[in-house]
Amino acid sequence: MKGLLLSGGAGTRLRPITHTSAKQLVPIANRPILFYGIDDMAAAGVTEIGIVISPTTGNEIQLAVGDGSDFGVSVTYILQDEPLGLAHCVVVARDFLGDDDFVMYLGDNMLEQGLAGFVAQFENARAAINAPQLGKAPGVAPVAQILLAEVDDPTSFGVAELNDVDEVIRLVEKPSNPPSNLALVGVYLFDKTIHGAIEAIEPSPRGELEITDAIQQLIDDGHSVVHDVLSGWWIDTGKKDPLLECNRLVLESLEQRIDGHVDVDSVIEGRVVIEAGASIINSTVRGPAVIGADSIIDHSHIGPYSSVGLDCRITRSEIDNSVVLRRSRITDIPRLTDSLIGRDTEVERDPRRPRATRLMIGDHCHIGIE
Ligand code: DAU
Repeated sequence: MKGLLLSGGAGTRLRPITHTSAKQLVPIANRPILFYGIDDMAAAGVTEIGIVISPTTGNEIQLAVGDGSDFGVSVTYILQDEPLGLAHCVVVARDFLGDDDFVMYLGDNMLEQGLAGFVAQFENARAAINAPQLGKAPGVAPVAQILLAEVDDPTSFGVAELNDVDEVIRLVEKPSNPPSNLALVGVYLFDKTIHGAIEAIEPSPRGELEITDAIQQLIDDGHSVVHDVLSGWWIDTGKKDPLLECNRLVLESLEQRIDGHVDVDSVIEGRVVIEAGASIINSTVRGPAVIGADSIIDHSHIGPYSSVGLDCRITRSEIDNSVVLRRSRITDIPRLTDSLIGRDTEVERDPRRPRATRLMIGDHCHIGIE
């Protein structure tokens, strides 16, 4: 089984962060989202991984992931010239995939339960059909397996409709009238039959070759598409609030580790990671929270569910439930919450008169002033 990790796309819903960086590299608990997907594949025994990249952010992804040896896998990069859809990613990866079975994983999705069980289920179902037990009629081998999760608002996902005997009969992409609350999770297992199904579909109204439509094509062609309903949490991190939620969930499983310096006037409470080279000066850090390497927290309070990236400086400020990317400065801000702060950013109190808010912000930003 091969792995196909999708890390191209435009990332419009995480602008302005994605003007300068790939959304799959935004950190969750100070590790790029994409790394968790690679870990999950490695843990499921999938070690030959193709990563689909775009011309704009591909270099950055290649620099971050390298040849995969840090993860115990081997990585092949596959360039997708334009973000023409998830099924288009399978088309551009055809040479890499050959006729092998593969697991496709969206690089901005995170799952609590990992992939191992899901992959084993597909392999076992196919093996059982190929080697039927004596006296039992051979069944139909599944050509695809999808993963579903119950969500409150299915309109921004692919949605599945099941029949009375729990079989998938219809899939629709981002419907305004969802037929169920079962969203398609960004993890799919396919055999080579998917390639023919993709050839048979047309681009959707949003101009993309949808994998949802290709799976519908498999069903329409009479193939067996099986499904599993997810038990643990799943997050599509493509927007700020889900990303912060994912950060909270991952920080929940943090183990305390203090490799940096904490001075005698500081208090560390709960599960906190302080990376090497970081300094906590006359401050409180209340976990779960992580402070990146070489960062300085000075006369500040870092509250629960905060991830501060490497080489940041937080001075006379209070932060909680936030993700701060590397080399940012936050100075004299009494309370910053529910925030995603990009790289090399400065947030500071301006002492000049007249008292006013003075901003220089990029395109597609959202600022909430108290
Ligand atoms: O998160 C689950 C949802 O993912 C499913 O429920 C939907 O059925 C599925 O279509 C997909 O919807 P999104 O609109 O959230 O997909 P998005 O455009 O965010 O792309 C998902 C990942 O694939 C992301 O890491 C970017 C990458 N990608 C996307 C496109 C369109 C590519 O590499 N190339 C592309 O052409």
